[in-house]
Amino acid sequence: MITPKIPAKCLEVRLAKHLEGPLTLDHFDVVEADLAEPADGEVVVRNDFMQLTAVMQDLMTPHPDLPMPPYQVGQRLWGGGIGTVVQSNSPDLAVGDLVQNMDGWAEYSVGPAGQYYKADPTLYPSPEYYLTQGPTAYHGIADVAEVGESDVVFVSGAAGGVGSLAGQIAKCRGAKRVIGSAGSKAKVEYLVNELGYDAAFDYHDGPVVDRLRELAPDGINVFFDTVGGEQFEAAVQVAAQDARFALCGALSGQVGNSEGAFPRLDIMTAIVRQIVLRPYATFHTPEQIWAWHQHFSQWLKEGKFVLPGTTLKGGLSEAPAGLLNLLAGKYQGNVVVKLSES
Ligand SMILES: NC(=O)c1ccc[n+]([C@@H]2O[C@H](COP(=O)([O-])OP(=O)(O)OC[C@H]3O[C@@H](n4cnc5c(N)ncnc54)[C@H](OP(=O)(O)O)[C@@H]3O)[C@@H](O)[C@H]2O)c1
Repeated sequence: MITPKIPAKCLEVRLAKHLEGPLTLDHFDVVEADLAEPADGEVVVRNDFMQLTAVMQDLMTPHPDLPMPPYQVGQRLWGGGIGTVVQSNSPDLAVGDLVQNMDGWAEYSVGPAGQYYKADPTLYPSPEYYLTQGPTAYHGIADVAEVGESDVVFVSGAAGGVGSLAGQIAKCRGAKRVIGSAGSKAKVEYLVNELGYDAAFDYHDGPVVDRLRELAPDGINVFFDTVGGEQFEAAVQVAAQDARFALCGALSGQVGNSEGAFPRLDIMTAIVRQIVLRPYATFHTPEQIWAWHQHFSQWLKEGKFVLPGTTLKGGLSEAPAGLLNLLAGKYQGNVVVKLSES
């Protein structure tokens, strides 16, 4: 194997200032940084793809109150990356190994071999298949909402990174009917024509509760929520007896106005229908990650599943604008940035 050339410097993205209002490009610093020499037991990894997710915006605020470390001013941002080992001072990883890491906001990563997770390059058609929010979607649909064959499922934010997987997982688990909401006509068509949703609607098209009553006349058994706000309030109104709500995200509050984060709960309806509200936040266990990859790779082989996503090709310097566009709803599915030509 030819040893890849390792540059002395590489691009990385740092937090320029905390987010106190709308997110702009001024919040990011794209800098050329020296690449450290790997010590004993360390490796150098060239990142081939990095992942963009909505929560990155929350991590830029001064006190995000999330179960993960916030971004620090002047420090490199962290996030999912996948790449190739290009130098190894460790017996645990060899040059050429494909590894996942949390240094996605940098072209190269240097660190102890133990902080990289070896990935099987034959499992998927491309390494970017490893950079999805599949473990979150799978855990929410399978373990939190326990979707089964008799269920009518409503997924909000259905064309986003998590939502676009959640609806497909529900279909693969045999759900009776899966309904999705999204923010444009094109996304609604995408959900039904490409992702196999039974029905979908644009949440801008009148009251959400009216759309749900039309599309789920007998009510919903499961609500997988990434949005909160009006969509949560509407889901309570159309909930069937003993409905389960997996509360995964609150995009209408995180990205939209803060009111979206504080939907009203019609308590009497929730009591009478015995709705089970299950908010969940998780650092995924190895078992959850393994369960996702096992099912995802199998469903792909069987032609039951597609990887819904957008791959940006402009390199790391495109990532800040990519995050802004993701939050503005310009993309569908998981969003990754291609960082290397290899
Ligand atoms: N619980 C957990 O453990 C866990 C783990 C990971 C992620 N999450 C959460 O899951 C959610 C989805 O994350 P993601 O990274 O996949 O994001 P995403 O859904 O890809 O977020 C981008 C989408 O948000 C939608 N959006 C923007 N403004 C909105 C608004 N005002 N109302 C409704 N939708 C709006 C847009 O879709 P439209 O064009 O359709 O509006 C846009 O495409 C987030 O809330 C995230 O924090 C939770």
